[in-house]
Amino acid sequence: MKERIKELLEEVKGLQALNKEDLESLRIKYLSKKGEITSLFNDFRSVSNEQKREVGQLLNDLKNTAQNKIDELKSSIENKIDEENKLDLTRTPDPIELGTRHPLSIVKTEIADIFGRLGFVIAEGPEVEDDWHVFSALNFPPEHPARDMQDTFFITRDPDVLLRTHTSSVQTRVMTSQEPPIRVLCPGRVYRNEAISYRAHCFFHQVEGLYIDKNVSFADLKQALLYFAKEMFGEGTKIRLRPSYFPFTEPSAEMDISCNLCGGKGCPFCKGTGWVEILGCGMVDPNVLDSCGIDSKVYTGYAFGMGIERITNLKYQVKDLRMFSENDVRFLNQFKSAY
Ligand code: PHE
Repeated sequence: MKERIKELLEEVKGLQALNKEDLESLRIKYLSKKGEITSLFNDFRSVSNEQKREVGQLLNDLKNTAQNKIDELKSSIENKIDEENKLDLTRTPDPIELGTRHPLSIVKTEIADIFGRLGFVIAEGPEVEDDWHVFSALNFPPEHPARDMQDTFFITRDPDVLLRTHTSSVQTRVMTSQEPPIRVLCPGRVYRNEAISYRAHCFFHQVEGLYIDKNVSFADLKQALLYFAKEMFGEGTKIRLRPSYFPFTEPSAEMDISCNLCGGKGCPFCKGTGWVEILGCGMVDPNVLDSCGIDSKVYTGYAFGMGIERITNLKYQVKDLRMFSENDVRFLNQFKSAY
C-alpha cells in the first residue's frame, strides 16, 4: 500500500493538462468516487492498526497534493484563456459592413453629374417657404386653379407659410439674388398633400434646372434634355416633347423617353405606348423673369423639372414608392454596387 501511495504521489506531481477537458478526466481518474486515490481510502480499512496512523497520513498527503495540483492546473488554464482573449491590435479585425447610399441619393448625384458637365451648378433653398417664392413669383395668379394642381401643405394662412411643392422656389431665390447668366440645378425634397400609396407619397424629391442668358432658345433646351436622356438611360434613348401647361413656362412641354424596358416596342410598363413621361419643361415665362427683377427684353431662359423617384423607378424598376422612405435594409442593400 505504501508503495502504491508513493507511486501515485510521483505521478500526481507530474500531471499536465492542456485544457479543461483533460483536467476533468484527471480529476475523474484520481479523485472521483471511483478514482484511484478514493479507492485507496476504501482499502485503508484493511490496513493493520499499527500502520493506520502512518498510512493515513501518507494517504491524506496524497489526496491534498492531488487536489492542489488539479487546482493549480485549473487556474493556469483559466489564465491562458484570459490571455488569449486579450485585445490584440495585430489581429485581423472582424469585417465591418459598409453602409450603402440611398438609391435616391445615387440617382440625384448622377443627374447632377450629367448636368454638371453642361455647366449647371447646384443651388439649394428652404423647404418651408412663403407663397411668393413658390407661387406668386412664378406667375400663379391668386385664386388660380393652377394652385390646386399642387396640393399644398400650409403651415399658416395670411401670411401664407407652406411646405414647398416644387423646387422651382429655389429658382425664384436664385433669380432674385443673382445676375444672368444663371445656370443652376435645384435638387431637394418637396411636399404635396396626397394620400400615400404605392404610386404617390406626401413628400418626394425633385431636380429642377434653370438656364437664363441672352438668346437661350427652345432648341438649347431640347439639346440639353436629349443629352441628359442619353447619358442617363443609354445612347439609344429617344425623346419626345408634348405640348403642356405650367404657369411659369411658355411654351411648356412634357418630355417622354422611349421606354427603357422594352426599347420602345411597347410593354406593360409603358402601357403599350413605347414611351414613358419623365419631366416637365419650357421657356421661362417673361412674367416670371420680370417679377424676379430680370429684364425679359434682354434675357430668355429655359427650365425643366423632374421627380427623382420617377427616374429611379425607371432605372431600377422599384414598384412601390413607399420603399424609398421605409429604410428597410433588405431594399437598401440591393444598391450596394450601384455607385
Ligand atoms: N415645377 C414643375 C412641377 O413641379 C416642373 C417644371 C419645372 C415644369 C420647370 C416646367 C419647368 O411639376
